[in-house]
Amino acid sequence: MASLFEPITLKNITLKNRVAVSPMCQYSAADGLINDWHHVHLAGLARGGAGLVIAEASAVSPEGRITPEDAGIWADEQADAFRPAVDAIKKAGAAPGIQIAHAGRKASANRPWEGDDHIPLDNPRAWPIIGPSPIAQGGGLSRIPEEMSKDDILRVQQDFVAAAQRALDAGFEWLELHFAHGYLAQSFFSRHANQRTDEYGGSFENRIRFLKETFAAVREVWPDDLPLTARLGVIEFDGQDEETLAESIDLIRRLKAGGLDLIDVSMGFTAGDANIPWGPAFMAPFAERVRREADIPAATSWYISDPKQADELIRAGAVDLVMLGRPLLANPHWPYDAARTLGVEDSAWTLPAPYAHWLSRYRAG
Ligand SMILES: Cc1cc2nc3c(=O)[nH]c(=O)nc-3n(C[C@H](O)[C@H](O)[C@H](O)COP(=O)(O)O)c2cc1C
Repeated sequence: MASLFEPITLKNITLKNRVAVSPMCQYSAADGLINDWHHVHLAGLARGGAGLVIAEASAVSPEGRITPEDAGIWADEQADAFRPAVDAIKKAGAAPGIQIAHAGRKASANRPWEGDDHIPLDNPRAWPIIGPSPIAQGGGLSRIPEEMSKDDILRVQQDFVAAAQRALDAGFEWLELHFAHGYLAQSFFSRHANQRTDEYGGSFENRIRFLKETFAAVREVWPDDLPLTARLGVIEFDGQDEETLAESIDLIRRLKAGGLDLIDVSMGFTAGDANIPWGPAFMAPFAERVRREADIPAATSWYISDPKQADELIRAGAVDLVMLGRPLLANPHWPYDAARTLGVEDSAWTLPAPYAHWLSRYRAG
């Protein structure tokens, strides 16, 4: 039976444990270039002992940023800027991953702590936004996206491919496609956001076309021996949950057949009237079902902060990896603390040697 601090191997990558840093936008880049903030942030998280560190949603094009301050990977200089962070993550003993993304109709917004709403188009910081259909996300994200043409679709898919190549050049060993949270790919999948009448909308087959094609195009350039994963919102909590879950599982099975190595199970966030049952590990039962029915390694996040619960999710076979966000912002050394709580032998060695040596049971008083 696997446990939280047991290694896991996916393709040629072995993670030293099953704690992963969930991607977390820092909204602190300039022109998509990451800087010292991100380097320290990512290195610190890796030094805390997680087996995998996934760098934040990095935009595949300028228009694909959520905010003007998002990280980007649409230019070679941006890949260069990631390189020191990638090296630091590896040196700390973690695998370096990155999530690549296009924000779709949620793009061109103010940072969460500066309103979290759309920047009006007449503001010089704003840019035009696109989506599957001219339907606004809602709430503060009230701007109506322009309906994407087939050329737009092809262009964005090529942007994903180029971003994947740059991620590889930068040294990343784990790629996650952002197909969740109401951003562009999720909005194609969503009945709420996608009301197209061409082959990219309407039926299930049509609503998954953008995701399937994008995935297949990236698979062509991402090496077979490195994990290629996706984050998908498998449920909207909009009252049509069984239907959405069944569709999601069908989609994930097809992606698996096309080379998907792991699915990061999350929410859709495209329904205006969602009724989300927030609570400890509330997404775990859905991840367990997806993992079982699609027969694919799975991860999930959302309100998992108790080490015993995290370990139990792995032991019970609900997920293969636990993705943590806010608990790691609160305590980047959460993996070390968790190892101690769980009684892992010489838990100090969850940390790199310059810390572990001094904290090991042979040293600590
Ligand atoms: C500061 C912050 C930034 C986030 N940015 C991203 C992101 O870039 N991509 C993504 O898929 N999810 C993002 N999320 C969601 C997290 O990855 C995670 O799924 C969520 O916070 C729930 O996990 P938690 O309860 O452990 O925080 C972000 C969350 C936070 C708190």
